[in-house]
Amino acid sequence: MSNKIHDPVYYGDYLQLNKLLDSQHPKSKEINNEAHDETLFIIVHQVYELWFKQIIHELKSITTMFSGTTVEERDLTTVVARLERITKIQGLLVDQLSVMETMTPMDFLEFRDLLVPASGFQSVQFREIEVLMGLRTHKRKEVDRDFFLGRLSEEDKKRILEIEKSPSLLELAEGWLERIPFTKNPKFDFWAEYETQVEKILDADEKIIHENQATLDSRSMAIQIENLNSTRETFASLLNDEKHNQLIKLGRRTLSRKATLNALFILLYRDEPILHLPYKFLTALMDIDELFTTWRYRHAIMAQRMLGTKIGTGGSSGHQYLKMAAENNRVYLDLFNLSTFLIPRSMLPTLPEDIRRNLGFHFNE
Ligand code: HEM
Repeated sequence: MSNKIHDPVYYGDYLQLNKLLDSQHPKSKEINNEAHDETLFIIVHQVYELWFKQIIHELKSITTMFSGTTVEERDLTTVVARLERITKIQGLLVDQLSVMETMTPMDFLEFRDLLVPASGFQSVQFREIEVLMGLRTHKRKEVDRDFFLGRLSEEDKKRILEIEKSPSLLELAEGWLERIPFTKNPKFDFWAEYETQVEKILDADEKIIHENQATLDSRSMAIQIENLNSTRETFASLLNDEKHNQLIKLGRRTLSRKATLNALFILLYRDEPILHLPYKFLTALMDIDELFTTWRYRHAIMAQRMLGTKIGTGGSSGHQYLKMAAENNRVYLDLFNLSTFLIPRSMLPTLPEDIRRNLGFHFNE
């Protein structure tokens, strides 16, 4: 074994500060008309890119842990901890926009035209995060599909297309959910019991509508019955393979029915200690989606404040485009929509003892 003591580490060398702090070169300075706020603009973007790098580091380690045929309990604890770390970083990313907004639109105009055609569209790390999470090019709305890759260099485009070849966190989580054996039992059909409970709840709702006949005119009554029937249809679409797959084809659902049902089971029985970690995993995915969307809206509003209705430097309609991208690019929306199918604890089917005993973390086929 070598006893060689390594050279003393020097703070600036370790952090490569020479490189890092020599990476701010305002375009306005190059034309001898330095705009004071361009330095802020550069540094804010660079800090974002550094945090994006950290998020990618976390996401890659998570997808690696999920890539096997089983996910160990210890790994799931680490996965949840890392997803929660990402949400803390996202909190900073949202807050940081207010630092950007200390620059006024007039100050931005001092150097904005010098940046054309560079744009956030070309943040390859942002695209990488989207793809690792589960947004796929072919699933994007046509209007943002063009912008998604269209503004990247050939090299960056190749990098994104290469990443698209590996399963995303969404796909890996779907596979993991499908392997959960909780509701498999020849003597107990959980979903038949659940359906019976749902029917009881909806029948009780219908009874209430009829009992209110005296206070409702016939039109309001018809509307309420129609709404109730559409709720019945929604539940039916969950419990019927064909209907569920039809919604997937229409792009209104993403997760397979098996994964959807198992995710719902986790949400319904989250109070079982053994389901707590899977529940925290699903919650963390929703938190990430929510914070990503919050950032998108917040950024869209900031763009409106800076540009009004002007187009972006990357050629999009600016604020309008960004608002629509926030609406269209929800990665884990299926998990949010599961709330539709939650029923009160008092109505939950009681699990047979052997199912309770079998609740484990090693989800083999
Ligand atoms: C003065 C500040 C900013 C303005 C006015 C602004 C404006 C815009 C506009 C108009 C777009 C649409 C694309 C285009 O036509 O160019 C865009 C996209 C984007 N911007 Fe910004 N932005 C600003 C700051 C930032 C910062 C600090 C970040 C952090 C990295 C950022 C990241 C992005 C990303 C990732 C996109 C692509 C979004 C998507 O396609 O969904 N922007 N920005």
